[in-house]
Amino acid sequence: MKSLRAGLRVAIMTDETGWHTRELLRALRARGCTGRCLDLAQCRIATPHAWHGLVLPGFGQDLPDAVLVRGIAGGSFEQVTKRLGILHALRELGVPVYNDARAIERSVDKGMTSLLLHVAGVVTPPTWAMESTTAAQQLVTRESAAGRALVLKPLFGSQGQGLQRVGWVEGEHVPLPALEGVYGGLAYLQRFVAAASSPGHDFRVLVVGGVALAAMRRISLEWVHNVARGARCEPQSLAGGIGPALARLAEAAARALDMDYAGVDVIPTRDGPQVLEVNGVAAWQGLQGVTSFNIAQALVDDLLGRRCAAVARRLQA
Ligand SMILES: Nc1ncnc2c1ncn2[C@@H]1O[C@H](COP(=O)(O)OP(=O)(O)O)[C@@H](O)[C@H]1O
Ligand SMILES: [Mg+2]
Repeated sequence: MKSLRAGLRVAIMTDETGWHTRELLRALRARGCTGRCLDLAQCRIATPHAWHGLVLPGFGQDLPDAVLVRGIAGGSFEQVTKRLGILHALRELGVPVYNDARAIERSVDKGMTSLLLHVAGVVTPPTWAMESTTAAQQLVTRESAAGRALVLKPLFGSQGQGLQRVGWVEGEHVPLPALEGVYGGLAYLQRFVAAASSPGHDFRVLVVGGVALAAMRRISLEWVHNVARGARCEPQSLAGGIGPALARLAEAAARALDMDYAGVDVIPTRDGPQVLEVNGVAAWQGLQGVTSFNIAQALVDDLLGRRCAAVARRLQA
């Protein structure tokens, strides 16, 4: 691969430099490519600047040969629209963007994720997203009467932030809270899947280029199993036991959202594993800690090998 792709200049879009960006820069160097970290917030549209109308700090009037999206800072609706707009523009200009802005949008919006999983026949707990507080309250009351709990999640949430159980929770009725603030006036509700044991666990499966490459169990006494919330990571084989089913399910989820790479959250249920959510800008430090191969290298090799063939041909012509 080194001879074919050497010399490519890859922009790593990130609002933070640290362990992940160091890993990616090293993996690019190992293939003879150069990486440069860029903050999408610092990228601009300036039509007089260049034929393509973009200003990407460090690239002068050039475009990168490829873009790897590692992090997008939160901001106002306008700011985030511009940041995603830059990624859309880069794709339209022929630059491979890994993950593409459309894939990032599908996975950041938990409602769209649930809908696309459902339509593709990928098993996921029943899910609702609605603006009407009255309708949401009726749903919570109905589910509660049937002895079920629902998880209320911020539509764009991550790292287990802002999750609450409503409905029938540990023997009592918990009503829907006010939806202002973190929920932005939207009720995204997913049926709660209770853990079969204590501590309980869920799974994170990393899918790269359509293939489930690594997985871990996230174990915690809390019902929210994010690493950022203190869950303990253990390696999970994709070869034996539940492994092949996890791999098939995570691959189907990544396919349903058309992701180059994805961190797929999967929960075990009595009826088999189900997908909770799909992360399009997934961190992998926790997973790397229990995985023997270099994850950043797998991402870089997939980007260079599968997505950059046309770019490499153009540069060599
Ligand atoms: N429907 C559910 N049933 C049981 N646990 C859930 C459910 N939804 C989320 N959780 C728990 O909360 C964690 C975070 O939820 P998730 O949907 O992945 O949002 P985030 O984007 O914040 O990671 C999951 O990893 C899981 O442990
Ligand atoms: Mg998650």
